[in-house]
Amino acid sequence: MSKVVLIGTGRVAFHLGHALKHAGHDLVSIAGRNTEHVHALANELRTPGLSLNDALPAADIILIAVSDDAIADVALNIPIGDAVVIHTSGAGELDKLLPHPHRAVLWPVMSLSPGEPMDFSQMPLVVDANTERARKMAKSLAGSLSGHVSELDHGQRELVHAAASISLNFPVFLLARAQELLRKNAIDPSVLTPSFVAMAQKASAIGASEALTGPARRGDLGTIHHHLDRLADDPELRAAYARLSSMILRAHGHPDHGYTDV
Ligand SMILES: NC(=O)c1ccc[n+]([C@@H]2O[C@H](COP(=O)([O-])OP(=O)(O)OC[C@H]3O[C@@H](n4cnc5c(N)ncnc54)[C@H](OP(=O)(O)O)[C@@H]3O)[C@@H](O)[C@H]2O)c1
Repeated sequence: MSKVVLIGTGRVAFHLGHALKHAGHDLVSIAGRNTEHVHALANELRTPGLSLNDALPAADIILIAVSDDAIADVALNIPIGDAVVIHTSGAGELDKLLPHPHRAVLWPVMSLSPGEPMDFSQMPLVVDANTERARKMAKSLAGSLSGHVSELDHGQRELVHAAASISLNFPVFLLARAQELLRKNAIDPSVLTPSFVAMAQKASAIGASEALTGPARRGDLGTIHHHLDRLADDPELRAAYARLSSMILRAHGHPDHGYTDV
């Protein structure tokens, strides 16, 4: 088990902090820029809380879980030592951690939001590193948290990150817009929730392409026309509907009738 200093007090620090403790690691302290946030997370994880200006205790691993744009500055302010320095960003390069000699990434491929500590045991964790020592430490740390660890370089991580945005963020954003549409028309938006949950489960069970249903998949152009008419008051959503319908129609061997031009 490793001695770990965790920097950051946000979503990832919360979930990762709990997972590290649960796995039996020695979380020697957490550190952050906001005293109130540090105090709250330090209490939650029952570990000392430090400011970013305090000297950090000795550790095998310094885990930086701060916003992507802050990683480089935070890393620069950590004195160079023996510890392997790790960040948690899927999009971030290893060199954000310069000038530390042993640099690694430990990226949870999961949407981590406020709430109960998440179970990491089957969570996909992606690791990358610049030296053998850093790789060994990062893989061992990741392996102690989850049974689903893989190694990807920066280019591959960027691709997974983009794919995750498409598959995760876009459907949730579209759900929010669809709910808003119903709300505006005095219809209870919760009518959409059960099928959203069921579709995510079905897509993981039988594959996304197989699980897909709807007028575009079937090639029901009349229904698509009616939907486009209904969306006349929301040109942005109408254009998104048309573009996505066109992609689905073509993917399933139907003519798209120029919906991309809407
Ligand atoms: N949430 C996810 O789903 C998720 C999943 C995988 C990976 N990640 C990655 O994990 C990292 C942290 O994300 P998060 O979701 O935990 O973010 P978050 O909840 O927004 O927390 C961001 C943390 O960064 C700190 N911070 C921001 N700017 C700073 C600065 N200039 N100097 C020092 N600290 C600063 C914040 O401090 P304050 O408390 O003072 O604001 C806060 O503790 C990011 O690299 C992100 O890409 C996130």
